[in-house]
Amino acid sequence: MASQRLFFALVPDEATRERIVGVAAALRLEAGSRLVPRNNLHMTLAFVGEVPSPQVPALLQVGGEQRMDPFRLRFADTEYWPKPEVVVAAARTFPDAVLGFWQRLHRDLASHQWALAPKRFRPHVTLARKVPQAPVFQAMSSFDWTAREFSLMRSDTSGSEPAYTVVATWPLLDDGEIT
Ligand code: 2AM
Repeated sequence: MASQRLFFALVPDEATRERIVGVAAALRLEAGSRLVPRNNLHMTLAFVGEVPSPQVPALLQVGGEQRMDPFRLRFADTEYWPKPEVVVAAARTFPDAVLGFWQRLHRDLASHQWALAPKRFRPHVTLARKVPQAPVFQAMSSFDWTAREFSLMRSDTSGSEPAYTVVATWPLLDDGEIT
């Protein structure tokens, strides 16, 4: 494997995955739209892109150097994003500490010329792709996602759906508080 397509993400526990699946199932999507397969649901923290295999150990080191307490995000809104043609569940508000974690991770990746930070932190879970226009949204059943770990994931895009594999997982350090 000469290079790998990699990203940092939160992977939901089973209960959270179930809630996300419920939100996705309630969407009224046009034919042709594709729900993200249950096992692919995640929240991207930082998209890194193609990384030559010899550089992967340095990327693992960046992951291992991050320090963050467990945190909770509330996903309360579904949104249509026209450019990528996706429907997402969004956490529009989040603790400052989570923004700090996201910023530090991007800063550390940028110091290796990896992963340009998006302009804004917009925590979201993509629920459906190839959605040509905004669906009519019903009120969303909000859910809380408590993150206790984060992962480096590999994306294999050779099939009709991307296949994700967990490369490494790091715990968020628990000092008894959930941010
Ligand atoms: P998403 O988080 O909005 O769904 C793996 O490909 C993940 O990284 C996907 O979940 C995807 O978007 C995100 N991703 C893919 N390409 C990206 C890019 N060029 N910039 C930022 N994020 C990207």
